[in-house]
Amino acid sequence: MIKLPGLIDPHVHMREPGGEHKEDWQSGTRAALAGGFTLVLAMPNTKPPVVDSASFNAVLKLAESKALCDFALFAGAGPDAANLPALAERTAGLKMYLDQTYGPLRLDEMDLWMPHFASWPLNRPLAIHAESRTLAAAVLFAALFDRPVHICHVSKREEILVIKAARERGIPVTCEVTPHHLFLTQEDIPRMGGGFAEVRPVLASRADQQALWDNLDVIDCFASDHAPHTMEEKKGENPPPGFPGLETSLPLLLTAVANRMLTIDDIVQRCYTNPLRIFNLPAQPDTWIEVDTKAKWEIRAAAMQSRCSWTPFEGYPVQGRLERVVLRGKEVFRDGKVLAQPGYGRNIRERSQG
Ligand code: DOR
Ligand code: ZN
Ligand code: ZN
Repeated sequence: MIKLPGLIDPHVHMREPGGEHKEDWQSGTRAALAGGFTLVLAMPNTKPPVVDSASFNAVLKLAESKALCDFALFAGAGPDAANLPALAERTAGLKMYLDQTYGPLRLDEMDLWMPHFASWPLNRPLAIHAESRTLAAAVLFAALFDRPVHICHVSKREEILVIKAARERGIPVTCEVTPHHLFLTQEDIPRMGGGFAEVRPVLASRADQQALWDNLDVIDCFASDHAPHTMEEKKGENPPPGFPGLETSLPLLLTAVANRMLTIDDIVQRCYTNPLRIFNLPAQPDTWIEVDTKAKWEIRAAAMQSRCSWTPFEGYPVQGRLERVVLRGKEVFRDGKVLAQPGYGRNIRERSQG
């Protein structure tokens, strides 16, 4: 049994408001605790999206009353940058969608990027969905505006190499990688079946996957990009992209430790130390998780807390199981059961303006 800090997932989609049939603040934060995450940063592509103080306050109210784990909310960058900086202190950061994905938030023209890069405060990160050449453009913007940017879910060899090169030249770029891009490739798509394999960024080649493992030192964070959609939606005509990930990230990463592909310290750096620093988060006092590193089991969606009730890792044999979670002095998960009540989760930006 080992004790680790409460993990931080800097990239989750809670779906409320507008997508409660996929997940809501209660089911999503139950899934977080059952996955060993005591703090989650929630993305703004809800319906309606979080793009101003009215939509931000509405989601905050929901989250405050329902969350079981601690949280902060991203604001989303729309065409108008004028009023966002006033909100910045209260947010996890600003999310910019620069490539196609789920939801209406997307900025195509680079002249719309500029006001956000110029005015968003430096102590709040800019988290960016940008792939391939768009990612290179976002890195250029980090250099032009001399401000940190955090690139979400890096999946390709060319991307991790651009980030590595940028960092070697002192450009302030950090990045995250998802477990699904570390453990799945396009070769898994036929087995997963059509819509169930849809995700953005798409599952990449084996060479891309290998490049992520080869450049582990360039990867600052592991982030689930927990993006639940229902089985009906994934089976349907236009399957929305996204995988649930909160409850599979830690077991997959622990299995990589058992297989000597990672160390426990690699996990702590990327699921705690680095997110804390990059997102300027306060440490959670009296908070830790306990893990049985020897336990062998199989991933089953039926045992999960997430409402979406499927996983791309169904039946995967894993080694390493979460046994207990303590959040701010209170036992909130033990032996497969979530013990916290809705409303126990705190907005970590409320107390610390750091
Ligand atoms: O696959 C994805 N799903 N990628 C994203 O960037 C968004 C997410 C979602 O919200 O469903
Ligand atoms: Zn994204
Ligand atoms: Zn996402």
